[in-house]
Amino acid sequence: MTTVLVTGANGRIGTELVPDLVARGVTVRAMVRRATGRSGEVVADLDDPASLAAALAGVDAVFLNSPSSERAAEQQIRCADLAVAAGVRRLVVLSQLGARADSPVRFLRWHAEVEAHLAASPLEVTVLRPNLFVQAVADAAHGGVLGAPIGDARVSVIDVRDIAAVAAVVLTGDGHAGATYTLTGPAAVSHAELAAALGVEFADLDPDTFRGLLDGVLPAWQADGLVEDYAHYRRGEAGQVDPAVPTLLGRPALGLDVLARTALTR
Ligand SMILES: NC(=O)c1ccc[n+]([C@@H]2O[C@H](COP(=O)([O-])OP(=O)(O)OC[C@H]3O[C@@H](n4cnc5c(N)ncnc54)[C@H](OP(=O)(O)O)[C@@H]3O)[C@@H](O)[C@H]2O)c1
Repeated sequence: MTTVLVTGANGRIGTELVPDLVARGVTVRAMVRRATGRSGEVVADLDDPASLAAALAGVDAVFLNSPSSERAAEQQIRCADLAVAAGVRRLVVLSQLGARADSPVRFLRWHAEVEAHLAASPLEVTVLRPNLFVQAVADAAHGGVLGAPIGDARVSVIDVRDIAAVAAVVLTGDGHAGATYTLTGPAAVSHAELAAALGVEFADLDPDTFRGLLDGVLPAWQADGLVEDYAHYRRGEAGQVDPAVPTLLGRPALGLDVLARTALTR
């Protein structure tokens, strides 16, 4: 039986991915930093190589996902190198749509650094490049208002349930080694449309106001990164609709109609 280590098992995608893999007959090691007592858990930290090496021992495949951080590339590269040392065969990494080394968006540069490292590794690597998560937008709405410096630019936002479903397909199926999949929703939508689907008001903010609202709420690197991310969205660079999700899942990607009918998971 295949054994898969899922990093970020309690995160937005991991929460959906773990039960999907279990339903496919996979033995899952759900990596968490603090034990919750659920079966299949392994306690490890991307910053603790010894715990990571123990979590990777005897594993066939890894789903590599960690939060945006100034050290994200360092953490993910260390994990990939330890996976090679442990004899892991396959690795599926969560990147972001638009990842490239010369991007003005720091998050996209960090993802590009990881992708470049993995391209030179002996692992069977598949890169998933999702667009902005619907659930992340939902989490950003406060007091009935979704404020963002985006105007009427459209983004093909994706539901994290589709990202997890694609990850499960790629981790358990063949023919995905060396592939990079761009994961989008079924349509490019404005934040006003997103806000309506979420049942909140949209407020178009200028970038300085947006940055000011994040002061003291997020660390400066993260707030500055979000401003860069939103400038990228506002330039219309994340509006493409890609066929990878329907092709890999054999059904349409989840859209805002589904969002309006179902409870968000996170
Ligand atoms: N948000 C978006 O719209 C979007 C769009 C495209 C791509 N992305 C990419 O998606 C990735 C995930 O972002 P997210 O914010 O949604 O995160 P997430 O998957 O919700 O959470 C990340 C998980 O990582 C775990 N974690 C944090 N630090 C760790 C460490 N040192 N060692 C081991 N595990 C650790 C957390 O565990 P705990 O439960 O212990 O805290 C959490 O379960 C990022 O690379 C981001 O760039 C995001």
